[in-house]
Amino acid sequence: MKRPASADPERPFGVANTSSFISRSPAETRTFACTLARSAPDGTVFALCGDLGSGKTCFAQGLALALGIDQPVTSPTFALIREYRGTPRRFAHIDLYRLDSASDLDALGIDDYLEPDGLAAFEWADRMPAIFPDGTVWVRIESLDRAEERRIAVKKTV
Ligand SMILES: Nc1ncnc2c1ncn2[C@@H]1O[C@H](COP(=O)(O)OP(=O)(O)OP(=O)(O)O)[C@@H](O)[C@H]1O
Ligand SMILES: [Mg+2]
Repeated sequence: MKRPASADPERPFGVANTSSFISRSPAETRTFACTLARSAPDGTVFALCGDLGSGKTCFAQGLALALGIDQPVTSPTFALIREYRGTPRRFAHIDLYRLDSASDLDALGIDDYLEPDGLAAFEWADRMPAIFPDGTVWVRIESLDRAEERRIAVKKTV
């Protein structure tokens, strides 16, 4: 398993690889994710971070929309992983919330889920930052003062 030093989500990134978006509704979050997914090459991994209920699953739903997945994308908290076959791109949606050690992760065989023919999104990615390869797109979702407002910060590791 690849554990590059640059997996730390707090490392500095080039300005061109960083962006921030204010979402004012779940629909805006999905649309934003959908736009990112359209420009993301196959094999891209999205590492989603944010508090409970911040909108990680909502963001993943937007990624799936871009891949032509018409099944409902639901939280994989209990299933750990859900895989969807879009047309033609696949989507793997993983939740690390209940995993608390690298050995759990090895048992899951996480490398198999770095989707070569589509995209992968991991919720609670900051629980295990070291597993993520170079080129991972880190997404931090933060609730703001207004009820449906979220700041979505995106950083791509190089
Ligand atoms: N701007 C917004 N973006 C995303 N979700 C929003 C927004 N405003 C309100 N919400 C609501 O916040 C909730 C986000 O739920 P979601 O399941 O996506 O969060 P989560 O981060 O995946 O939670 P968990 O940590 O339990 O997995 C939904 O009920 C959604 O309707
Ligand atoms: Mg979720």
